[in-house]
Amino acid sequence: MALLQIDNLTVEFETSSGWFRAVDGVSVSVNSGEVLAIVGESGSGKSVAMLAVMGLLPWTAKITADRMLFEGRDIQNISPGERRKLIGKDIAMIFQEPVASLNPCFTVGFQIEEVLRIHLGLDKQARRARAIELFNQVGLPNPEERLNHFPHQMSGGQCQRVMIAIAIACNPKLLIADEPTTALDVTIQKQILDLLMALQARNGMGLIMITHDMGVVAETADRVIVQYKGRKMEEADVLTLFENPKSNYTKALLAALPENATGDRLTTVSDFFDGTPEPAETRV
Ligand SMILES: Nc1ncnc2c1ncn2[C@@H]1O[C@H](COP(=O)(O)OP(=O)(O)OP(=O)(O)O)[C@@H](O)[C@H]1O
Ligand SMILES: [Mg+2]
Repeated sequence: MALLQIDNLTVEFETSSGWFRAVDGVSVSVNSGEVLAIVGESGSGKSVAMLAVMGLLPWTAKITADRMLFEGRDIQNISPGERRKLIGKDIAMIFQEPVASLNPCFTVGFQIEEVLRIHLGLDKQARRARAIELFNQVGLPNPEERLNHFPHQMSGGQCQRVMIAIAIACNPKLLIADEPTTALDVTIQKQILDLLMALQARNGMGLIMITHDMGVVAETADRVIVQYKGRKMEEADVLTLFENPKSNYTKALLAALPENATGDRLTTVSDFFDGTPEPAETRV
């Protein structure tokens, strides 16, 4: 049984010119211990699809799916109370916008300890010890002092690390990481990726890694979904995708990597892809 199984997910938003379909019939499944990467250009619906899974889209979003199962259990029609027990504990997400995802009114220590109190019921001393351990793990210097800081006293990269610490605090079974390292410098990027991969291996966690970075895909993923304009263009295991891409869009993405550039300028996806979606069938 897949850890997460989403069939035919569609998300629409109402706009002044009618309904806009941000996610158009995407199916996603991930197993325990597996790393699934979702790649695709800005606006292709990667974040919206995963926020729909988390139940975190605004009420204006119209979400439909044939099936949305976590460990075989329906998560589409569960009560808000049941969802609150699941989200942040068994399913956690590292959000794309770290600063906006933290509450500006509370210290980061309060915010991480709240998760540990609500989901794990730890007492004050144990919460503090675990929070310090987590801050150490994500490479935040002076964790004891850091606990007393508010988000506005920290840099974007530091906020991102706090959010990663909150996401992994309860050892989730499924972690959705939405561009987890984009705001970080290269050495910290590597440290965070190594940490996520170590946790994933140690806990047998399922990991969905949303990224623009094909280097991150190559390094971390078992399987890859390529998304374009809300639709799945291709799904394949990572080696097959790099060695034998089928959809025109994947070919264009790979051809536009800097290392494949020839001549005197970098190429872009639009040099190779005319915008006509041509989904390849799933090859998993
Ligand atoms: N609350 C909303 N109301 C209306 N449209 C929205 C809303 N949230 C997202 N969208 C639209 O849905 C589309 C997909 O957005 P999404 O954030 O999923 O893109 P993405 O693939 O994550 O891009 P990026 O790589 O830049 O993060 C975009 O066109 C966006 O404008
Ligand atoms: Mg996004």
